[in-house]
Amino acid sequence: MAVRKSLPSLPDQSTASEAQAAAQGLSRQALGGLHTIAGSGAVAGDHVELAHLWDQALDATDAQLTCHLATLRHHLVEHFELEERLLAAADAPGRARHAADHGRLLHWLDDALRAADGGAYETARGFLSHDLPTWFTLHLRNLDRMAAPAFRQDQR
Ligand SMILES: [Fe+2]
Ligand SMILES: [Fe+2]
Repeated sequence: MAVRKSLPSLPDQSTASEAQAAAQGLSRQALGGLHTIAGSGAVAGDHVELAHLWDQALDATDAQLTCHLATLRHHLVEHFELEERLLAAADAPGRARHAADHGRLLHWLDDALRAADGGAYETARGFLSHDLPTWFTLHLRNLDRMAAPAFRQDQR
């Protein structure tokens, strides 16, 4: 049975620059703790798993990098499908913008996968060390947080 967590008090909105600054100084543990900001049940569980997969990918060798990025992509696609299904079921306002932000991250991730595949490991690692934590911080504090009422309807 899913355990619902209360939402900590945070500013209503985070700007991109705030999120970037936060992400740059973000420890792995801090990112792992961000999952409690938004969502509950399966959505929050997915955020925990995302932080775990991200942490593992940061430690990947060059030879392992493509596999870790592919695992991250698989997890994210399933997670985004769940969120977008819940947003549609709730007819939540702003759901097209929310889905577009999911697509933006997948686009960057596909670029990182192509880079890793081609041996451009530092480019691929840039996604893990900068793009993903920056995106995650901003997306979680704003879009996922605003969508929390819809996510609470999760019956998965
Ligand atoms: Fe989301
Ligand atoms: Fe999410």
